[in-house]
Amino acid sequence: MRIAIVGAGSGYMPGIVRGLLHRADDLAGTELACYDIDAAHLDVMTRLARNMFAARGAAITVSSHTVLKAALDGASYVFTTFRPGGLAARHLDESIPLKHGVVGQETAGPGGFLMALRSVPVLLDIAAEADPGAWIVNYTNPTNVVTDAVARHTDARIIGLCDQYIGDTEMWAELLGLPSDGLEADWIGLNHATWAQRLRLDGRELDVPLLLDDLKVPGGGATPWRDPSRMAELAKTLGFLPNSYAKYYFFHDEVVEEMRAKGTTRAQDILAMLPGYYEQVATEADKADPDPSRERGGGEHGEFAVDVICALHRDEGRRMIVNTRNNGAIPSLDADAIVEVPSLVGRSGPVPLTMGPLPGPVRGLTQAIHAYERLASEAAVTGDRRTALQALMAHPFVRSKHTAEKILDEGLAAHRDHLPQFR
Ligand code: G6P
Ligand code: MN
Repeated sequence: MRIAIVGAGSGYMPGIVRGLLHRADDLAGTELACYDIDAAHLDVMTRLARNMFAARGAAITVSSHTVLKAALDGASYVFTTFRPGGLAARHLDESIPLKHGVVGQETAGPGGFLMALRSVPVLLDIAAEADPGAWIVNYTNPTNVVTDAVARHTDARIIGLCDQYIGDTEMWAELLGLPSDGLEADWIGLNHATWAQRLRLDGRELDVPLLLDDLKVPGGGATPWRDPSRMAELAKTLGFLPNSYAKYYFFHDEVVEEMRAKGTTRAQDILAMLPGYYEQVATEADKADPDPSRERGGGEHGEFAVDVICALHRDEGRRMIVNTRNNGAIPSLDADAIVEVPSLVGRSGPVPLTMGPLPGPVRGLTQAIHAYERLASEAAVTGDRRTALQALMAHPFVRSKHTAEKILDEGLAAHRDHLPQFR
């Protein structure tokens, strides 16, 4: 079997190699076809992968490619994990909305919209060049918009991934004083906009409202990914568990103030740490038993993606939360919507499990986000300016037509080189 990795020079690659190692027995005989446009980063990561596989006796070979088609040919799985325009483009996505009083975030809101405009054309190319029948296993953000565009406009098979729910479930275990081993939450909704009303520990249903009554809202503890204090505050009012991106919707104006006061974007913070990170990885890459930094993608990120590939390949029918076509699993959203929902993942792809309606307090919000996502996907495919404007106006962060116009004009100009569909 051949697995292509598009974006193999990514800082997340050490975690992906660790993920492959954790399923090395199931993947024996696999060839990893690594592709990136950054030849230097690709070189570091392929050396690292070879040496890590050799050190652990894993029967996985590694090839290195700077021509996309050469990596895709013969690949049954195309794992996409890249950021078009890199962190410099992410900085623009995060800073342009903020200038206009809107949260500047990589995936949520207008920042995610601008990223979608760059990601979608690249994914459509990959879908066109991949072997017929290959699975695109996609981490490229915004994962749900990308998945929607590929599912709607190509014949390729695609499954959209996000590992957020794993860390969110762990955060909730800690907040609720529960063990995280054996804790399972039914996160449903849209990527980075999911909600959980049902929680099980070792298969036993828990009383979520009762747990939330007893929950004490902690102070502080926020990381770039999670803000437990705000999540706890929200949950006590909503009566169910919000995903960690909910703070951007329900504390929008406070978050704008905080982002402005902070003075640097997340992209700038990452850019500042990356040279040291790659240096560490490069040094480890040549060692007999490399131990690369876990600073980027050090959690479940890699293992989750590899588990999805194994579930597809080995027809495991494993229960995982992925982005796929709704087909009635969540009746509050269109049947052809790409939703994030518990699914059984086997050879024929994810089969979403029937979950029932979205909880009332966030039903309208989630439907609005879906309306935005459909328009964003359409605009990213067609390059139609009017559709793009409609998308931004549909987003709950924006609404204002003039704000939407300013963000769109600035965004299209700033990212011109990455937006062939708008030329
Ligand atoms: C989480 C999200 C990803 C996102 C990442 C950003 O893992 O689920 O979709 O890309 O955070 O993390 P970063 O460290 O790049 O800010
Ligand atoms: Mn994500």
